[in-house]
Amino acid sequence: MARILITYSTTDGHTAKICQRLGEYLTARTFAISVAPLAAVEERDLAACDKIVVGASIRYGRHSQSVLDFIGRNEGVLNRKPGAFFSVSVVARKPQKNQPHTNPYVRKFLRRIPWRPRAVGVFAGKIDYAKYGPIDRAVIRFIMRLTGGPTDPRAEVEFTDWRAVEAFADRVAAM
Ligand SMILES: Cc1cc2nc3c(=O)[nH]c(=O)nc-3n(C[C@H](O)[C@H](O)[C@H](O)COP(=O)(O)O)c2cc1C
Repeated sequence: MARILITYSTTDGHTAKICQRLGEYLTARTFAISVAPLAAVEERDLAACDKIVVGASIRYGRHSQSVLDFIGRNEGVLNRKPGAFFSVSVVARKPQKNQPHTNPYVRKFLRRIPWRPRAVGVFAGKIDYAKYGPIDRAVIRFIMRLTGGPTDPRAEVEFTDWRAVEAFADRVAAM
């Protein structure tokens, strides 16, 4: 039974939720799955798995530095094993920005990292204004006003296309 490590960086929990969904989907297809935040992954976890999936969300135009550090630290093992990366952002709710070659954050990120994941996923995330502090809420509402998204300060909207998440899981299964 192939062992897949699914690891992530998240701020508000949505990337972790996508990882849980990937994990459930792949467990049902007879893979042995571990899901853990990047900070909890040790060298021996990477050594023990057969495939690796890394997920990260976008905040103010960037993936967290911890993702770049993780990839830099583990470049060798990441490039030796089948691996996949996915990015979560609200801009990815736009059909013209939901592919690795059309999403500006992912294009830039892939150019910066020394890892060549075999599969790359781009998923739309979630807006949950009640969770944000006043400055973040104001900034995100402003961006949403400019880009035609929800601006109601009570809005909680999940844009994620769960079928796209499952299609990505199928690619991970086939790697
Ligand atoms: C403070 C803040 C800044 C964000 N900045 C961006 C951004 O620059 N571009 C974007 O597309 N989405 C942005 N988002 C949306 C997040 O990527 C989205 O909410 C995602 O679901 C967060 O995933 P997480 O809960 O795993 O951190 C931002 C969200 C917050 C709260």
